Order: sequence, then C-alpha cells, then structure tokens
Amino acid sequence: MTLINLEVKDKIALLTLNRPEALNALNSAMLGELFHSLKKLEEDDLRCLIVTGSGEKAFAAGADISEMVEMTPDEAEEFAAFGQKVFSYLSTFPCPVIAAIHGYALGGGFELVLACDIRIAADTARFSFPETGLAITPGCGGTQRLARLTQASYAMDLIFTGRRIKGEEALEKGIINRLVPAIELMDEAWKMAEGIATKAPLGVRMSKEAILRGLDLDLEKGLEVEAELFAECFNSSDQKDAMRAFLK
Ligand code: CAA
Repeated sequence: MTLINLEVKDKIALLTLNRPEALNALNSAMLGELFHSLKKLEEDDLRCLIVTGSGEKAFAAGADISEMVEMTPDEAEEFAAFGQKVFSYLSTFPCPVIAAIHGYALGGGFELVLACDIRIAADTARFSFPETGLAITPGCGGTQRLARLTQASYAMDLIFTGRRIKGEEALEKGIINRLVPAIELMDEAWKMAEGIATKAPLGVRMSKEAILRGLDLDLEKGLEVEAELFAECFNSSDQKDAMRAFLK
C-alpha cells in the first residue's frame, strides 16, 4: 500500500497522506514517500498543489510515536532533520501549496500544515502541539514557523500547554486563511487552486519567491528582492503576451 496518494488534473495536484488507520501519523517511510512524491511533482510544472489527509478523523495526528519511542538522540536528530528537510522543500515548492485540513492536525501534522502556503480548514479541524506532554519539543519546524506566523508568546502558549484549538481561534490568529463546513472543504480547496491556475504561472511563482525570500530580510533588502524578481518577469514572453492581450 502506498502511503501517499497522488492525483493530477489540469496541472493541479492533490497529495493525500494515506495512513488512515494510524490517523496519518508520519513515520519515516511516509516522510520518504512524501519527499519523493514532491520531487516527482516538481517535474510536472504544476499550477497548484493541494495537501490533505485520508479518512474522516485526521489531517495527520503527528509524528509516529511508536517509531520515536526508542530512538537514541542521534536517531532523533536524524528524524527531525529529515522531517524539516521535507517540510522546507514543501514550503519552497515552486507552485502554491494549499493545505486542506479536517480533523486532527497535531504535532508533526500541525507542522506540515504550517509549511504550506495557504491553509483552508474544515469546522472539524483541531490543532495542537502535544509534544511537551511526551517530554519532547516539536521537531519539524513548529517552534520556528508558528512563532514567525503568529507571535513568539502565542507559540509558547500553544506549545507549553499543548491545548487544542478549533478553527475559529486558528482563523483569528492568522494560522488558517479560511474556515468552511467540512462538506465544502475539498470544493473550496479546488476552487482556490483553479483560481490560482488561471493566473500566469511566472507571476505566481515569482510572487511566492519574493514573499518567502523577503521574510527574513529587513524592508529595504526585501524591496530589492522584489525589484529583482519584478525585472526578471520582463525577460519572458509571458509578460509581453499578457500585457499585450490586456491592451488589445
Ligand atoms: N503516532 C502513532 N500512532 C498514532 C498516532 C501517532 N502520533 N496518533 C494516532 N495513532 C494511532 C493510534 O495508536 C491508534 O492505533 P491502533 O488502532 O493501532 O491502536 C490509531 O492511530 C487511532 O488512534 P486512537 O485510537 O488514539 O484514536 P482516538 O480518536 O481515540 O484519539 C488522538 C485520537 C487524540 C489524535 C490520539 O490518537 C492521539 O492523541 N494521538 C497522538 C497525538 C500526538 O501526540 N501527536 C504528536 C506526536 S509527537 C510529534 O509530532 C513530534 C514532532 O514534532 C516531530
């Protein structure tokens, strides 16, 4: 059985975590398949990628605790480094990535959500970092991405207490972009992906790069990156064609 399902339609890919019997808990095999699936998808010149979980109950209930329980510190470091590599690859993937979240998005599942560009959640979604209860820290980017996306003190609140939040709070804190009834989740994700796919891929890709590269820079340097990428767009026939078509 494959741990990651892929479907591609009209340059939009749907990537589904497929381990529903363990609430899509992320083990090394699944992280490896996720990495290889992304590598494969990168060749497809996609317009948008949607990431979701199979089954009714979870997007993903975290890293696999049965695999982690007996790890040595070296093995744990290797596991975290690989998880981080995969999630960083996802976050810098050359097309927009939408997380479609239902049910539990806990620990590593929450970290996977945070590595996506845009997050749409069903009203069944529940987010938390249970790691401190397991005597560990989040290991696949949670301490860094949540603190950057919200505020350090809010990340500390969620990570120290492990409390579980619902979609309303996630929306209020800017963790998710949209909250929808569960039955509408995938339609909403596809609608957004199709909307993005109508835009010129170069403009979307360069905009993503400008936003991501600017995040860790001061404003002046960020503006330089923006001007550089803006100029690069003018190297392409896409820009000429799109502007000429408008003027006609
Ligand atoms: N790892 C391994 N197996 C898991 C799992 C996980 N993170 N989460 C769920 N499962 C498995 C359960 O063991 C169970 O398997 P069996 O049927 O073989 O017993 C199956 O999934 C269904 O789970 P439950 O019976 O527990 O379902 P529930 O509805 O009663 O509870 C839950 C759901 C509240 C999500 C509960 O499963 C739970 O608390 N899971 C663990 C969540 C967690 O602590 N995640 C953080 C992991 S640490 C991490 O992610 C570190 C990191 O940053 C890298």
